Amino acid sequence: MINIYSDDEIKIIKESGHITYMCHQHMKQFIKPGVTTKFLDDEAGRFITEQGGVPSCLNYEGFPRNICISINDEVVHGMGSERQLREGDIVTLDICTLYKGYHSDSAWSYPVGKVNKTKEHLLYHTEKALYAGLKELKNGVPLGNASARIQQYAEKHSLGVIRELVGHGVGHELHEDPDVPNYGKYNSGVVLRTGMVIAVEPMLTAGDRHVVMLDDDWTIVTEDGSPAAHYEHTVAIREDGYEILTGE
Ligand code: MF3
Ligand code: CO
Repeated sequence: MINIYSDDEIKIIKESGHITYMCHQHMKQFIKPGVTTKFLDDEAGRFITEQGGVPSCLNYEGFPRNICISINDEVVHGMGSERQLREGDIVTLDICTLYKGYHSDSAWSYPVGKVNKTKEHLLYHTEKALYAGLKELKNGVPLGNASARIQQYAEKHSLGVIRELVGHGVGHELHEDPDVPNYGKYNSGVVLRTGMVIAVEPMLTAGDRHVVMLDDDWTIVTEDGSPAAHYEHTVAIREDGYEILTGE
């Protein structure tokens, strides 16, 4: 079942999303060679709590960290540890906040110092793919249009589109219906309605699209070791477009 949220509820999801957004802004200063991912995880948890939120990743299906931190070939669900960021890495912070009973979800990938051309291309075009997909969203339009647009954009720029990981509805729960794939066909899928709230999150690779799970049963990495990037906004569907809820 797909939830339809009232304007009052969307206002609260946007407050939740603002904490998520501010957490990203706060974390940028720490993304430097030498910082441990445990420090980043602690700092994000502290920030969200201080803003009156709860880090929704913590204990989600048993996930043992405040946020997900994924480096290079790690696509999603990386866990903070004593590992240090190094010059030339790319790192994704996937941050989820629960505030006044509503979740918000936003991931962003960042370069650590100067990165190579392949990673630069990957970061630039994965962010663009997110906005290309978002532009398709409005009341009355099939969701497949956004999925197809993301896939088309990614493939035009020779990036791999991961099939196993998808976006999702978000609000009362962190993961709700519908699934929001990053591949698909125009004129397919559920018809979007004003008041739906979804997380759109292209996860693209600079190589092959296949992924595998590490032995920790959480971290998902690319099979061929190629780097992956991930950009995600929580958005509300509006009569004539969409509204980003995880921005300013
Ligand atoms: N944004 C992540 C997702 O949509 C949240 C994962 S929470 C975790 O998958 F606990 F599973 F890590
Ligand atoms: Co998500």
